Amino acid sequence: PTACCADNGTAPMAADSGRLPCCINAALALAGSFAELARQADKARDTMLVPKTALETPPLEIHTLGDEVLRQSARRIGKVNEQVRELARDMLRSMYTAKGIGLAAPQVGIHQQLLVIDLDLENAATPPLVLINPEISSASAGLDTYEEGCLSIPGVYLDVVRPTAIEVSFRDEMGRPRKMKADGLMARCIQHEMDHLNGVLFVDRVTDEAGLQKELKEKGFEHQHVRSVA
Ligand code: NI
Repeated sequence: PTACCADNGTAPMAADSGRLPCCINAALALAGSFAELARQADKARDTMLVPKTALETPPLEIHTLGDEVLRQSARRIGKVNEQVRELARDMLRSMYTAKGIGLAAPQVGIHQQLLVIDLDLENAATPPLVLINPEISSASAGLDTYEEGCLSIPGVYLDVVRPTAIEVSFRDEMGRPRKMKADGLMARCIQHEMDHLNGVLFVDRVTDEAGLQKELKEKGFEHQHVRSVA
């Protein structure tokens, strides 16, 4: 008999009568543990799913250009725990309320290396991307020009030049090490959000100085708050 049925040898019943229920139980237990694993995997995948709708009172306030908190560097996160996940969920709630596709923790005044990104705002079932302690391991030589905006500089949209494609290493919301290649809008968004972790804003990278001055003035921002790296 298999290990699962070993007790039958000592039980005062016929082996045949004991074997079947015992093994069915074992099979059920095994199926149960697979089901549990599947449930845990689902839970891990869905752990960041919050309604992609605008809240009347978002949990976190997003700071805007001119606010010093946007210029401070973020620290690496040590342990990825429920507190980090709840912060990420609150960032998502505030991001969805503001109808943005990316948000970095320094934008809500928290200087930790945490980003949330969601390029699929229309589909409630698509899980957002959470990047903890992100590092770009390689960037393409090829560059792209693309019009960017930022929830910290509402209404301002200007062209920025960045590498077309990147490879980024990070930890996900469960603390698992991840590595991904990104291009197009995803590469653009990750680079923009990672800049926030270093206190850099997209307007710092704008090369069209005249356009920048005009756009900032029109939207009520002061040019003196730009720290050009272009
Ligand atoms: Ni931004």
